Amino acid sequence: MRWPSVGGLGRSYTVSVAAVDVSAGPVIELRNVSLSFDEKHVLSDISFQLARGETLFLLGVTGSGKSILLKLILGLIKPDSGQILIENQDIVPLPETQLLAFRKRMGIVFQEGALFDSLSVYENVSYRLYEEGERDETKIEERVREVLRFVEMEDAIDKMPSELSGGMRRRVSIARAIITQPSIMLYDSPTAGLDPVTAHTITVLVAKLRDTRHVTSIVVTHRLQDAAVLTNFTYSAERDGLMPLGTDGRPGGTPRPVTRFVVLRDGRIYFAGSERELARTEDGYLRKFLA
Ligand SMILES: Nc1ncnc2c1ncn2[C@@H]1O[C@H](COP(=O)(O)OP(=O)(O)O)[C@@H](O)[C@H]1O
Ligand SMILES: [Mg+2]
Repeated sequence: MRWPSVGGLGRSYTVSVAAVDVSAGPVIELRNVSLSFDEKHVLSDISFQLARGETLFLLGVTGSGKSILLKLILGLIKPDSGQILIENQDIVPLPETQLLAFRKRMGIVFQEGALFDSLSVYENVSYRLYEEGERDETKIEERVREVLRFVEMEDAIDKMPSELSGGMRRRVSIARAIITQPSIMLYDSPTAGLDPVTAHTITVLVAKLRDTRHVTSIVVTHRLQDAAVLTNFTYSAERDGLMPLGTDGRPGGTPRPVTRFVVLRDGRIYFAGSERELARTEDGYLRKFLA
């Protein structure tokens, strides 16, 4: 798998993907990660693994530790104990200078999109390339147009965020997240606050990244519909949309994407399992949470 031609940055991405393939270990692995702020246990003994192309849905009530967990994986904060392995390397002991290389392999879509309001779409989407030292304007524009095309927003390249709808802003923030061609995508409530139709178009993009680029994803969501769609449908480039698994007519069909579910409760893993296991649970707390 490789991205469409993109010059120098594309080549470095290809190298990192090859490294993942030969190692065949988990892309993300947390081992007994704990974090407290002052006296408060924010996360306690969190462990899980995700292989390439797998999706983890992270569920839990407000304040259960979902966003903090994403920040730990990005290396923005350090745990008090435990290991966080990204492509087999524990990032916890690494200094900031070395974390940058890991962060480049990750794209994050923050809650509400979080675009810079005073910057145009072009500037919002391109800034990580500048940050990485890319100065070739032609290359930068080519990359920006490519990722905006991926999210079907190329026409908005010169617009300001204030001119965009909520769904369009979310699309632009996905474009911004994928500009460095990450092998890992972290989405913090990507569909929160959107109407159901717009929310679905964002979920289709999550599936498109997973199924065309084999991105490993963590999706924080309150919407179980999003999780059901990503568990039971696959992205079809021919249709530019979703289709139920196993009906695409290709020889052998499409391999079922692996989706895992984790429910956090007060910073602990309260449930870990498949969609089916979660849907069939008899646990009172989960039943109430899912209702
Ligand atoms: N910078 C911080 N300092 C102290 N406590 C924090 C900080 N950030 C988050 N918390 C606390 O950590 C817990 C988990 O927060 P968070 O991960 O944002 O929850 P969620 O995303 O699940 O709603 C909450 O109790 C929150 O108050
Ligand atoms: Mg949060």
